[in-house]
Amino acid sequence: MLRLTDIVSRFKYLPVVLVGAATLMGIEQGAQSQQADDALRALYQRPDAVPYPEDNPYSDAKAHLGKLLFFDPRLSGENNLSCASCHNPSFSWEDGQKTSVGVPMTRLGRHTPTVLNLAWGELFFWDGRAESLEEQALGPIASSVEMAQDLDQLVGKLQAIDGYSDLFEKAFPGTGITLENVGAAIATYERTIVSATAPFDRWIAGDESAISDAAKRGFALFNGKANCVACHEGWNFTDWGFHDIGLPDDQDLGRYEQLDIASLKHAFKTPGLRNIVERAPYMHDGSIRTLEAVVQHYNHGFVQRETVSESIFALGLTDDEVADLVAFLHTLSSDDPAVTYPKLPN
Ligand code: HEC
Ligand code: HEC
Repeated sequence: MLRLTDIVSRFKYLPVVLVGAATLMGIEQGAQSQQADDALRALYQRPDAVPYPEDNPYSDAKAHLGKLLFFDPRLSGENNLSCASCHNPSFSWEDGQKTSVGVPMTRLGRHTPTVLNLAWGELFFWDGRAESLEEQALGPIASSVEMAQDLDQLVGKLQAIDGYSDLFEKAFPGTGITLENVGAAIATYERTIVSATAPFDRWIAGDESAISDAAKRGFALFNGKANCVACHEGWNFTDWGFHDIGLPDDQDLGRYEQLDIASLKHAFKTPGLRNIVERAPYMHDGSIRTLEAVVQHYNHGFVQRETVSESIFALGLTDDEVADLVAFLHTLSSDDPAVTYPKLPN
C-alpha cells in the first residue's frame, strides 16, 4: 500500500495525489484533510541554515567586505553606480523600474531581478548564463551597459583606496585584492540576503490567525486549480527552472540564446515569490505592473506559441479567485530588518 511519506516525495502532483491516496487508504474525512494539510505545509518549511559552498565558506570578514563592495559606486567606470543602485534594498533588492539604466545612461534590455534568497540558486541571470554567484558578480562590473568598469584596472583602483587593503587581507589572508576575491566577497554578502519570516511562515508553523481566510483560499488555489506550484515550488516558490509562460515579448529568446535548444525559446528563469509585492513591475521585461495583472496573465492573457509550457493553460479563475490568489501573494512579504548604508573605506 502507498504510504504517505512515499507520496510526499512526489512533490509536483502532491495535492492531487494526496487527496486520491488518502481516499484510497480509507482515512475518515476530517483526519484525511488534516493529514493532507500537514503534508502540504511541510513542503513549505523554511530551511534552517544558509548553504555556503565549500570553496567559498562564510566568514564575517568576507560578508562585511562584500557588503562594502556591493554598495561602493567606485566599482563602476564612472564611480556613479553600485550594485545597490539597481539591487536596492528598499525595493527588496530590485529598482522599481521596468528596465534599469546603466552607466552610459542606456536602458538595459531586461528588468532587474532581486538578489534575495540566491544562496539557494542554481543558475543565475534570467537566462541562466552564470553558474555561480562568484562568477556572476564580475559580469555587471565589466558590462559596458551596466557598470562599465575595465576589470584590468579594478584591482589597481581598489589598491589605491587605503582601507580596502586591510579588509581584503582579513577576508582573504595571503591573497588580498584580486578579481576572484572581489567576486567571492560579494557572493558571500549576497548569500546573507535572506527574506525574514513572513505571515505565511507563521501560518505554516501553525498560527491560524497569521493570514486571512482569503489568503488561505488563495494558497489552496496556488497548489490546485491555478497550478502555480508546477513551477513556483517550495519555501522560496521557485523550481529554479526555465519556462516560456507566454509573455508577448518575442524579441528576447531567453535561455535559448545560451543553449540553442529550440524548445527553450522564450524560456526565462522562474523567480522566487518572496516579498513579491515590493518587487513590481514584474517579469524579465518588466511588462506587468500589478499582481492582479500577473494572475490574469496566467488566467487567460498568455500568447499561444509552440514553446509555451504545458503547465500554462486557461485557468478559468473567477474574479474572487483572482483576488484570493493575490491576497495569498501578499502574505509572502516579510518585515526584513532595515539595511544600513555602510561607511565606505577611503
Ligand atoms: C544597471 C543596473 C544593474 C547594476 C548596477 C547591477 N545589476 Fe545585477 N542585474 C541587473 C539586471 C538587469 C540583471 C538581469 C540581467 C539578465 O538576466 O540578463 C541582473 C542580474 C543580477 C543577478 C542574477 C539574479 C538571478 O536571479 O539570477 C545577480 C546575482 C546580480 N545581478 C548581482 C549584481 C551585483 C553583485 C552587482 C554589482 C557588482 C550588480 N548586480 C549590478 C541590473 C544591475
Ligand atoms: C510553467 C511554469 C510557471 C507556472 C505554471 C507559473 N509560473 Fe509564475 N513565473 C514563471 C516564470 C518562468 C516567470 C518569469 C517569466 C518571464 O519573466 O519571462 C514567472 C513569473 C512570475 C511572477 C513575477 C515574478 C517577478 O519577480 O517578476 C509572478 C508574481 C508569478 N510568476 C506568479 C505566478 C502565479 C500566481 C502562478 C499561478 C497562477 C504562476 N506564477 C504560474 C513560471 C511559472
